Amino acid sequence: HARAEFVVVANRLPVDLERSADGTQRWTQSPGGLVSALEPFLRSRKGAWVGWPGVPDVDVDEFTDEGLVLHPVSLSSAEVRDYYEGFSNATLWPLYHDVVARPIFDRSWWESYVRVNRRFAEAAAAVAGERATVWVQDYQLQLVPTMLRELRPDLRIGFFLHIPFPPVELFMQLPWRAEIVRGLIGADLVGFHRPGGAQNFLWLARQLIGLEPSRGAVGVRSRPGMVQVGDRTVRVGAFPISIDAAGLDSLSRTKAVGERAAQIRADLGDPKKVLLGVDRLDYTKGIDLRLQAMHELLQEGRIKPDEVTFVQLATPSRERVEHYQRMRGEIEQMVGRINGEFARVGHPVVHYLHQSVNRTELAAFFSAADVMVVTPLRDGMNLVCKEYVACRHDLGGSLVLSEFAGAAAELSSAFLVNPHDLDGVKNALEAAITLDPAEGRRRMRALRRQVLTHDVDRWARSFLEALGSEPAA
Ligand code: G6P
Repeated sequence: HARAEFVVVANRLPVDLERSADGTQRWTQSPGGLVSALEPFLRSRKGAWVGWPGVPDVDVDEFTDEGLVLHPVSLSSAEVRDYYEGFSNATLWPLYHDVVARPIFDRSWWESYVRVNRRFAEAAAAVAGERATVWVQDYQLQLVPTMLRELRPDLRIGFFLHIPFPPVELFMQLPWRAEIVRGLIGADLVGFHRPGGAQNFLWLARQLIGLEPSRGAVGVRSRPGMVQVGDRTVRVGAFPISIDAAGLDSLSRTKAVGERAAQIRADLGDPKKVLLGVDRLDYTKGIDLRLQAMHELLQEGRIKPDEVTFVQLATPSRERVEHYQRMRGEIEQMVGRINGEFARVGHPVVHYLHQSVNRTELAAFFSAADVMVVTPLRDGMNLVCKEYVACRHDLGGSLVLSEFAGAAAELSSAFLVNPHDLDGVKNALEAAITLDPAEGRRRMRALRRQVLTHDVDRWARSFLEALGSEPAA
């Protein structure tokens, strides 16, 4: 069959296979920022996407979905446990997010990671046409670039990391640090969200495998470096990801979203102010910290339970990993405690939904919220805050945003907070709740200018341009 000229390789396909108890199956949108950013772009390209269908032990043949070729890579239950839940999400995820949870270093998980990365590399090698571009995504697949280059030296290979790349002191804890760096430099271009990540990576490439910086070549954005690997030059740079801003902007202008937003506010009892959090239920997101801030503000009488309502949408995520289970318990206990103290019958102060919601519903929640609360301890970019801004064509609403989200570098008109500084978070919440409307509009206008002019299409094109597989704009 025809092989693809453009291939994305990611741990997950953009759709998840959902199997219900009665044996029926259906495909649903996969969770997380990577998919929501890349899917609209790739659909417009009609390329191929290599990824896992989201459940263990299924063998699905390659199929086409609205012009996009989906090539499933099957994982056994043991691989899901060791490669996905283990090495990817209990070793790399906490290590790369500032060790906010303690990473577990387990040798059998690492072996599984190597084996599964090889399987993805083989799948990509089979799908990609002669001299095609293959774009490998994220921390689950850091060995794929070099494995793929060995199988298919004709390919142009890019790699992008969607999560933070850690400070060198933390990365150096990893027993397999040199193997990971060696895995990545098989790419022609290695991309990060922030220049700091690129610099850390360059330093490690020099220290761990003695690569020399290369001279004289043309830079890509944010003055990235380059390293020389034999006769190849590997470029390393920063490419802050974004969202389908125009798509969300027009969705938020539809009658359906407007009516649903009004309905949500009415269902909440028409409070004066609606605060909103939207996250995968992850310990990096600081959901507990914002609840604690809310709790103290209520206790101190700085916000009134009959005037302010807080809605937390928490998408279920990685539910078999211990840290996630513990965090869920803590969050649910805090929600119970706040409502126990401050709710009246029929009027909870915190509405907590451990559910995923579709795009239209999400746009309605964004439109209904006066204050968007985004307080991760560490986040590669965080797309939720950009989605909120894209939905506020009315220039209403304000954004409280952690300094430790990559997005903070672009969204300086938000109320920026250090999530570890509880008093600072409380002050920012109070300021956002009592914000003068004219000042709010001024801030939102500035935020929208940034988000609407830096969308995901621009991100993808600038990466592919630097990779040399896209003509310069
Ligand atoms: C983050 C990661 C993605 C991941 C997503 C959802 O955005 O960067 O690679 O797909 O979370 O997590 P999950 O483990 O469910 O794929």
